[in-house]
Amino acid sequence: MIKKRKKLNGSLNLGIIILLLVVVCYITIMLFDEAYGGRFYIPEVEDDMDVSKSYDFTEDDIMKIDDIVSEKNIDYLLENNIDKTLALGIINETYYIDEYLEKYLNYHVINSNLSYKEVVARVNSHIDVEFYTETEKTDESLGKFVILNKHYYASKDYKGESLIVVDKEYNLYDTEFMLAEECYQAFLKMYDDAKNEGFAFKINSAYRSYERQINVYNGWVEQDGVILADTYSARPGYSEHQTGYAFDIRDFPLTNDDFSKTKAFTWVSENAYKYGFILRFPLGKEYLTGYQYESWHYRYVGLEAAKYIHDNDITFEEYYEYFIRFNNPRNLT
Ligand code: DAL
Ligand code: ZN
Repeated sequence: MIKKRKKLNGSLNLGIIILLLVVVCYITIMLFDEAYGGRFYIPEVEDDMDVSKSYDFTEDDIMKIDDIVSEKNIDYLLENNIDKTLALGIINETYYIDEYLEKYLNYHVINSNLSYKEVVARVNSHIDVEFYTETEKTDESLGKFVILNKHYYASKDYKGESLIVVDKEYNLYDTEFMLAEECYQAFLKMYDDAKNEGFAFKINSAYRSYERQINVYNGWVEQDGVILADTYSARPGYSEHQTGYAFDIRDFPLTNDDFSKTKAFTWVSENAYKYGFILRFPLGKEYLTGYQYESWHYRYVGLEAAKYIHDNDITFEEYYEYFIRFNNPRNLT
């Protein structure tokens, strides 16, 4: 009986010692992990070690991506033991932007059901963070390429460029509208061609100053509340109406509340890009643009960009980030 108890005590002591050892090991690992940036299992890299082999990436893999991926990012992939299929999948996406590699990888971790194409499109459109958070001042010097959305904002004083008054003939109401000159000239061409083919539309909103947008947005918030208003109206400083390169149209003389159901819309949606315009908030891309489908809202970006956006079915968000902001040199077909 005594022997049995002794044996039991011995086992208990051994158990406690093992448990203590486990706890001490765990605390030590956690402390080390914290000290080294919270990353588990990152192997030490010896100076003369052939890293491309030991991390699954071959020399050949590295050579294939080294004109797209910076040395810093290649080091990041290797040091963090990033899965090769994932990394190459993202890097080989058409609109891959090297500055966002880490963001793509982080976004993929929490959205692993999404394709690489979708991860890139979303991060490039800055929807990996909540709308109206982590916002950035837009580059106001870019003329027809100035972007404004729920990520990029303009200053109160920003007023597009070379605004001119729209001839009353093109207005739906007896209100004075203004547009950036280049946009207006393109509108006139589109208007004439549509008219010659038997379609008519008029402008019912064009340039809106920061102050005007305060009234517009607040009016909608009063009527529908912030959540709903945010789905169709931009907050002051975030509306492309402030650029002078955006306008809204309605069919004419039969002004239809739902412009998308009119013949004028069908004509405009098929032809606008030939004049340098894009449908700024397309159907099915609401999650990228941040706004409901607006069949009436057009944006001037010039012939080349409009054609590219139309032909490749991308948003201005995606085009801007890849071609304008990062001026990506990759030759796309
Ligand atoms: N309706 C668009 C989003 C604007 O307010 O600019
Ligand atoms: Zn509009």
